[in-house]
Amino acid sequence: MTNSKGNPSTLLAVFKYLLPYKFRMIVAATALIVTALATLSLGKGIEAIIDQGFGSNDPAKLTDSITTLLIISGIIAIGTFVRFYYISWLGERVSADLRKAVFANLVYLHPGYFESNRPGEIMSRLTTDTTLLQTIIGSWLSLALRSTLTLAGALVMMFITNLKLSLIITASVPMVFLPILVFGRRVRKLSSSSQESVASVGSYAGEIFQQIKVVQSHLQEKFEIKAFDGEVEKAFEIARRRVRQRALLVCVAMIMLFGGFAGMMSAGGHDVISGEMTAGELGSFVFYAIMVGSGFATLSEVWGEIQRAAGAAERLLELLDASSNISNSKHDIKNSSEGQLTFSNISFYYPSRPTKLALNEFNLDIKTGTSLALVGPSGGGKSTVFELLQRFYDPSKGLIFLNNTDIKKMSLQSLRSEIALVPQQPVLFTADVRYNIAYGKPNATENEVISAAKAAHAHEFINQLPDGYSSYLGEQGVRLSGGQKQRVALARAILNDPKILLLDEATSALDSESEQAVQLALKDMMQNRTTIIIAHRLSTILHVDKIAVIDKGSVVATGSHSELIKSNQLYSRLAQIQFREGQDLAVKENSA
Ligand SMILES: Nc1ncnc2c1ncn2[C@@H]1O[C@H](COP(=O)(O)OP(=O)(O)OP(=O)(O)O)[C@@H](O)[C@H]1O
Ligand SMILES: [Mg+2]
Repeated sequence: MTNSKGNPSTLLAVFKYLLPYKFRMIVAATALIVTALATLSLGKGIEAIIDQGFGSNDPAKLTDSITTLLIISGIIAIGTFVRFYYISWLGERVSADLRKAVFANLVYLHPGYFESNRPGEIMSRLTTDTTLLQTIIGSWLSLALRSTLTLAGALVMMFITNLKLSLIITASVPMVFLPILVFGRRVRKLSSSSQESVASVGSYAGEIFQQIKVVQSHLQEKFEIKAFDGEVEKAFEIARRRVRQRALLVCVAMIMLFGGFAGMMSAGGHDVISGEMTAGELGSFVFYAIMVGSGFATLSEVWGEIQRAAGAAERLLELLDASSNISNSKHDIKNSSEGQLTFSNISFYYPSRPTKLALNEFNLDIKTGTSLALVGPSGGGKSTVFELLQRFYDPSKGLIFLNNTDIKKMSLQSLRSEIALVPQQPVLFTADVRYNIAYGKPNATENEVISAAKAAHAHEFINQLPDGYSSYLGEQGVRLSGGQKQRVALARAILNDPKILLLDEATSALDSESEQAVQLALKDMMQNRTTIIIAHRLSTILHVDKIAVIDKGSVVATGSHSELIKSNQLYSRLAQIQFREGQDLAVKENSA
């Protein structure tokens, strides 16, 4: 997937990222041209050493020509340093800039984008594809330019040095290079599939280690070892075929090259003997012929690399071009200290499931500073209401108003800064406690963080962690229990001090005792704040101002607990079951 090829013309779009570095490009290009010219003149230097140095029997001339040769070599060495440094620098810089640009575009995208594009795939584009571009620009591109220059120059010099020999060589070039090209292509193909199979070995192992508890509890270690062995053997077999082709390639190349060399020496040698050409001319001719040959070889290899780079560029540009489905208005709404919410005739289906309405003609009104509970069967659409309110998705039909303003007409920033959510599955970052609590307000003082934690009844357990607020929580907070994670998420919401508080089963993972404590804290928090609570346990919502019963994407009834018990069948059934469970439990405990 990462190795697939693309149309080289897409690479032009990447050159835009080189433009800010014009000066470095000019330096690199100058160094490239100077070294190429100096390398080309080496041939003439060799000719001079042979013909004027040895040939003239004059030691002074020999010294002269050797000095010239040394100076040229010095120029080549310095030029190569400059060229290598600046071009590699450009490659690294462009790949770093691209990475930043892609990431900066992706973080603003609508969440639905990451449902239809696997995050793993996006991550691999961000790393593998940018790295590929970096090596292409940093080394292969410079190689391509240098080879083209020296190839063209060497070709010209070859013909100038000896026309007859050049014609012979030109005629035999296809014979020599065709077999090499064929083997070269096979090697390249196998080496890219070898890379892929190694990557799949890695991802296989990665998944197993992540699910290690499932594997061990089902006693599937032996099975996994066997399956992994299979993956490794597959990779080995591909690698073996690649190595074989490569060995053959070297063998064929040797035969062809030395054969060609012998032919050239024999034709040229006869001319030297018959006096048609000097030994120095033959020497420099051989030098140029070798340069032409290696130039061809490099270019054919570079071409494959450039196609791969184009594939990588295409995938990156796709990420750069992706735009959010959620329009962002420039209109910042001033803090009005109000939190009046209206859902008006909302219908909505998730983009990944266009056949099923998650909300269907949903209507609801929530007055400033009041609390409302959403209850109803699982899958009814309760969490979806929160998603729409935060504009992670936009409704297919209908409008949502905050203080009588259509939320689509507010900037995302001014909408979202009014809202804090404690999600159904609290999400923590791989960092310490303090970072996680202060995530929405990075400049919060230590005191603010601690009092938010206290309000969420998290302070006590945080203090018992090895490093208190600086305790590292492991990847996605694995080192905390479900209830502890929930309380950290709650503290985060409290610290944000929002006008609108959204709680999605925020206390579902707590034991009765901490739940009661957190409920008390929430009661404080809910004062002067518009709060929507989603809860399965009705006991947790008895103190809210209003309850809305949600079923199959619609509000089927609203009222207080006692009203709904009488008026709504669904609600009274839910209440009955929970009430009975409570009683059963009490009976069991008593009889135990
Ligand atoms: N990201 C999504 N893509 C596609 N469908 C979804 C997505 N999220 C939820 N749904 C579907 O939308 C419907 C409403 O889901 P929602 O999460 O709002 O239910 P809920 O009332 O919160 O349920 P629960 O009480 O179990 O949390 C369900 O049928 C669910 O399968
Ligand atoms: Mg839900």
